[in-house]
Formats: sequence, structure tokens, C-alpha cells
Amino acid sequence: LVGFHSRFGSEPLPYDDEQAELGRDLVIKFSYVVAENTPKGQAAADFAKRVREKTNDRVKVELFPNGMLFNEDNEVEALQHGSIQMIAPSFSNISSLSPPWLLMDLPFAFPSDDAVSEAFQGDIGKRLMDLLERSNIVGLAFWENGFRQLTSSKGPIKTPEDLRNLRFRIQPSRVIDAQYRTLGAETLALPFNQVYRSLENGTVDGEENSISNIYSKKLYQVQDYLTLSNHSYLGYGVLMNKTFWDQLPPELQRAISEAMAETTIWANRNARIINQKQWREMQADSNLQVYALSKDDQSHWRQLLQPVYDEFSPVIGRELMSDLERLQL
Ligand code: LMR
Repeated sequence: LVGFHSRFGSEPLPYDDEQAELGRDLVIKFSYVVAENTPKGQAAADFAKRVREKTNDRVKVELFPNGMLFNEDNEVEALQHGSIQMIAPSFSNISSLSPPWLLMDLPFAFPSDDAVSEAFQGDIGKRLMDLLERSNIVGLAFWENGFRQLTSSKGPIKTPEDLRNLRFRIQPSRVIDAQYRTLGAETLALPFNQVYRSLENGTVDGEENSISNIYSKKLYQVQDYLTLSNHSYLGYGVLMNKTFWDQLPPELQRAISEAMAETTIWANRNARIINQKQWREMQADSNLQVYALSKDDQSHWRQLLQPVYDEFSPVIGRELMSDLERLQL
């Protein structure tokens, strides 16, 4: 049993109502790797505030940004063991636990933000979240960040050939790895908070990320070129330890669910606003050379990346792949 914050030792005390009445807070520790001025950071803060209000201070959500407590290598395990109660990893990071989540990383799978929202709210979202239950995880929501763009220090990336022989930092996702290998680039999976240094010291030549992540970790200051490729989607599964969730009294579950539903509506609108605002600020604050892929460019890239679809459709499964095809119609 997890979740009670004890001042007297490192072991969490079991949750029980009597102790709650004695004035001890029920604490939900929520760990994430990005900065606070990001879609995920702001969503987490909004959720914490709403939970406090809706539970009359009975539940406190403690936030641990910037990977200060756990990073992507160990946060899922920490969640399963109950050292923390909530995380919001990117789909890439969830895919090592549940390979069908690789669907969300497929290149050029989603033509628009609206297609992404539809995936979150429809069969794809439900199927993916259901898969996590067997890992003692409850999926509470999908949070948006934005489409991934390409950055590099070794020349502009206008055609797929421009990636050849470049070394790219990627998230630990087999689909993303295959995407770069198919186009002749090398990959190195590195934790998010090592990306700036690795770009700065030339361990890698480039990386892919949402505008907000490129902005908030100042990655654009150590890169010369940015391609608006919108080639894949960076979003998050908001996850809770299932044992913890199941043992919450129904009224607290209800309050937390309501808070999450309200936060998600607000946060997903906010994510688009932040990315736009930070894109303007980034351009004003840098000498980045920017290239945008046209619709025709995107179809050309997508064709060359067909082997990634062929390799991973069986891993993702027929049902999910059909759900995805229906989304394109
Ligand atoms: C990254 O590792 O590049 C990002 O996924 C981090 C995040 O959580 O947005």
C-alpha cells in the first residue's frame, strides 16, 4: 500500500481514513522530466491546484519536475513500486512497457492536432490505456504537447537524404529508432535532461522534439537548423499506480477524476497556445535557419518510411492499426 507521507521514515504509511482525520495529508507524488514552463509542467500544476480545492486539502499533489526525483529510465518502475503515485511519460517511454504504444510514435501517422485528439478520445486511446492495467497502472488521461520537429547543427534538413550519416538523439522508442535507421541516420537514446549537453559537445548532431521542449531546455541555442516537419507526435499518458488508486475512498476517486477531466480540457488547449508562443519567442531569440516541409515533402518522407510501418504493424496489432487507418479517412 502506498501514498501516505510519513515524517518519520522513508516507508509510506498505508492509507486509512482515521489517519487522514488525524490531519495527515494524503500525498500524491507526481514526477516528470520536463521543465515547469511546458504543457506538461503547467498541466501538472493545474491538476495539483484543482485536486487540493476539490478535496478540501485532503489530497496534496507534490510535483517533481525536471527529472529531479526519477527520470525516464526509472520512473515507470518507481510508479509500479509505489515510490511515486503519478507520472506522465511520453508515449515513447510507455512503449518499452507496452509495445502497442509504438503506434503513437509512427511517423506521419497523424495529419493534424484534431486527428491526435480523436485518437486520444476514441478506440485507440481506450485500447492503449486498457493495456496498462496488467502492469498495475491506471491511465487517467492523455495530455498533448505537440508535433515533433527536427533540429540539427550539421546543415539544413530539407530532404530525407539530408539525414544520412547524422547522429540523432532519440527517445527510447523502437519506432523512432527505425525511422532514423531507415533514412540512413544513426541514433543514440539519451535521457531528456542530457540532450542540451550532448548537442553542445557534439555527442549528437541533432534531435527531434516539440517546440516547447526545444524552447524550454534552450536546445535551439546549441542548434543551427530547424525543420518544421511535424513528422510525429509528442504526447503523454497520465498514469497512476493502480493499487493506490483502487484503495482511495470513492469520494476521493471522484474528486481526482473530476480534477483530471477539467485539467485535461484546459491543458490540451494550453499546449497549443504555449507551443505557438514559444515558437515566436524562439525565433526572436535565435539565428536558427528554418525550413518547413510542404505537404508534398511530407508525403515523400512518409513513402520512404513505409518499412517502419511494415516492421511495426505486427507489434502494434491489427486492431489498433485499423483504428489508425480509420482516423486518416
Ligand atoms: C523527450 O525526452 O524528448 C521528451 O519526450 C520529454 C518529455 O517528456 O516531453
